[in-house]
Amino acid sequence: MKQAIIMDVDTGVDDALALFYLLASPEAEILAITCTAGNVPAHHVARNNLALLELCGASHIEVALGSEVPLLQPLETSEVTHGPQGMGYAELPEPTTPLSTRHATEVWADIARSRPGEVIGLVTGPLTNLALALRIEPDLPLLLKRLVIMGGSFNYIGNTTPTSEWNIAVDPDAAKIVFDAFSVLPPERRPIVCGLDITEQIDLLPEDVTRIAEIAESSPAELLLPEQPRGTRSTASNDIVRHLSDAVRFYVENQQVNGDGYSAHMHDPFAAALAIRPELAEYRSATVDVELAGSLTRGTTVADFRGHWGREHNVDIATATHPRVFLDEFVERVGRFAREIQGASV
Ligand code: RIB
Ligand code: CA
Repeated sequence: MKQAIIMDVDTGVDDALALFYLLASPEAEILAITCTAGNVPAHHVARNNLALLELCGASHIEVALGSEVPLLQPLETSEVTHGPQGMGYAELPEPTTPLSTRHATEVWADIARSRPGEVIGLVTGPLTNLALALRIEPDLPLLLKRLVIMGGSFNYIGNTTPTSEWNIAVDPDAAKIVFDAFSVLPPERRPIVCGLDITEQIDLLPEDVTRIAEIAESSPAELLLPEQPRGTRSTASNDIVRHLSDAVRFYVENQQVNGDGYSAHMHDPFAAALAIRPELAEYRSATVDVELAGSLTRGTTVADFRGHWGREHNVDIATATHPRVFLDEFVERVGRFAREIQGASV
């Protein structure tokens, strides 16, 4: 039985890797992709997803544009991390598939209402669209089967301010609305939250990209080496491998500059994996809220594990996993998918 998923993204290199993983996973059925501003402006996010779906032979999946700006604060983007268009060095062909005529919020509300209790919501970008969708469908938390969020940092460093994580920091007002609205659920349906504390343990290595290419029967051997000139482009014979490698190269070059090693933090792919295989992680429940007023800490997720606030736990935080178990599965699935799609296109 496939798990129906609606995903809201700010593609973004790792959002793209999450999409490859879900398209390659037999457990997943992506019903729609909604686009929010974040890593890059929302219209770039939408273009990236239309192009990625065409590359993967999945243009039947609806792509809807959402909010171009956060609820209150000005938009901050991160081209330095994800590239000018959000796909690193990858230059995907201009898509010809039209965007959905529905707004992202309508897509969330319509799908949730049409399949109550069946659809998992996955958000790998700022929570702006979800916060707006709650305005038109306040019962969204009860209509979704579950919500999985890549966001936050729990007793761990931030990647956007000293204590805040990007998806929350871009739109903390939206994040607070979402965490508060989803606080009504019973324990078994609490949102799963994947913060930096776990996702920064999960790094795709250059040799993993090499292995993906091998499984895809791509040639020549796909090498990402720190000693190669910045911006070296892949010549892989497999289209998905070539674009994945070009996207990942930009991301790992930036990660190396940040001192985090020549590898790729798999923030969004791991959150996507928990949407279909929650058994890949261990969890700890907590009451999570978002700091909005702190002059230094605005956008920080605060987790109360011990009941200091006297409020029910509202999320399950992913706290532990075996990184190589997921990474090896990612490599295997995406490599095989790349081979099958190329094979189908000849
Ligand atoms: O902090 C990491 C998150 O922010 C990821 O979702 C990445 O794509 C960016 O959106
Ligand atoms: Ca993202």
